[in-house]
Amino acid sequence: MGINFHRRFFCFFLAALLFLPLVSTSHSKTQKDNPNLDQRVRNFLDSHRRSWRDMNVSEMDGKILYDLIIKNNYKRALEIGTSTGHSGIWIAWALSKTGGKLITIEINEWRHREALSNFEEAGLSDYIDARLGDAHELVPKLQGPLDFVFSDADKGWYKNYLIAVLPKLEVGGCFTAHNVSGRRQYGIGEFLDYLESLPNMETTIDRSSWSGISISYKKSEK
Ligand SMILES: C[S@@+](CC[C@H](N)C(=O)[O-])C[C@H]1O[C@@H](n2cnc3c(N)ncnc32)[C@H](O)[C@@H]1O
Repeated sequence: MGINFHRRFFCFFLAALLFLPLVSTSHSKTQKDNPNLDQRVRNFLDSHRRSWRDMNVSEMDGKILYDLIIKNNYKRALEIGTSTGHSGIWIAWALSKTGGKLITIEINEWRHREALSNFEEAGLSDYIDARLGDAHELVPKLQGPLDFVFSDADKGWYKNYLIAVLPKLEVGGCFTAHNVSGRRQYGIGEFLDYLESLPNMETTIDRSSWSGISISYKKSEK
C-alpha cells in the first residue's frame, strides 16, 4: 500500500467521476433541447386548450403519444387522421426532440388547412409533412420505414391501415390506435381481434382516458 497505490486509486476515482455522467445520460443527450420552441408550443397549447372541436384528442391522450415517442426515441412517425392538428402537435413536439419527422394525412381540405396554420403557429411546421388526401390510397403507397403510427381516422378501416403499415413498421416500433375502448363500436372489435391474433405484436390498451388507446409494439418481423 505505497504512495503508488493511492495515486492509482485516485486516478481511477477521478476517471469514474468524469465518465459516469456521460454513460448515465447518453440517452437524453441524443435528444435535443430547444427551450424557445418548447415555450412556443406550450403557449400555443395553453391558448388553444378550449378550442379543439374537430374530434381532436384530449390533452391527456396527446401527452400519452408524446411520452411514447420520447421514451422510445422514435423518429419516423405517421398519423392517419390529422383533423385540425391537436395530436399532430403533441407528436411533432416530441419529434422535435428526437430529431424525427411526422407524416400526417387528412381527407378534409378545411381541416387540413386549419392544421397547417396551427402547425405554423406552434412553430412545428419543419417537423411535419401534412398531406391532403384519402388515407385508404395514400397509406399503402408510403415508403417507410416507420417507427411510430397513430391511427385516428375512420374506425371501419383500422384493420386495413394496420395491414398496410405493418411491413413498413420497424421491429421495436409502435402502432397506436385511438378510440378503441368500445369493442362493439363499428370496426374496433374486428381491428382488436386481428391485432391480438398477431404473434409478433404485443398489445396493451391505455384506458387512462375514456377513449382508450391501443399501444402495440412490434417484437419481430413475423
Ligand atoms: C378523430 S379525427 C382526428 C383527430 C386528430 N387526430 C386530432 O387529435 O387532432 C379523424 C379525422 O380523420 C379524417 N379522415 C376520415 N377518413 C379519412 C380518410 N379515408 N383519409 C384521411 N383522413 C380521413 C376525418 O376527416 C377527421 O378529420
